[in-house]
Amino acid sequence: MKIIIGCDHAGFPLKTQIKVLLENMGHTVEDAGCLSEDSVDYPVYGKAVATAVAKGNFARGILICGSGLGMSMIANRFTGVRAALCNDLFSAALSRRHNDANLLVMGGRLIGGDLAEEIVRTWLTTEFDGGRHQRRIAQMDEIQ
Ligand code: RB5
Repeated sequence: MKIIIGCDHAGFPLKTQIKVLLENMGHTVEDAGCLSEDSVDYPVYGKAVATAVAKGNFARGILICGSGLGMSMIANRFTGVRAALCNDLFSAALSRRHNDANLLVMGGRLIGGDLAEEIVRTWLTTEFDGGRHQRRIAQMDEIQ
C-alpha cells in the first residue's frame, strides 16, 4: 500500500518508529516531514499529508502530533479525507469498519510505541464493513 506519513516535532519520535514498522510490513512510505524535534507548526505537515490523500496520490495517510487533536482538525478540512484520531485499538478498528477512515491520527505524547504499532497494524488490516455505513459516509460527503 502507498502510505504518506507526517508529524510535527511532538510526533517526530513516534513517526520515526512507525515508519520503520510500515517499511517492515512491506508498504511504500513517503515521509512528508518534519524531520527533527525542532519546533514546527503542525498545520504545515497536516496539510501536506491530507492534500496528498485527498488527491488520491496515496491510499492512506498517517499523522502524528502531540495530542493528535491539531492534526485531526486540519486533516478533516480536506474534501475526501476521513481522518480518525485513534489512541486505542477499539477506535482504530471501528474507524475502519464503520467510517472507512483513510487517514490515521495519533497523539505521540499520549501513547507508547508498542500500542501505537498495534494501532497501526489494526488500522491497516481492518476492512470497511460497507452497507449502512456506506450510506452514512455518502451523507457526510454531501456536507462539504
Ligand atoms: C505542540 O506543542 C502541540 O501543540 C501539537 O503537537 C499538537 O498536540 C496540537 O494539537
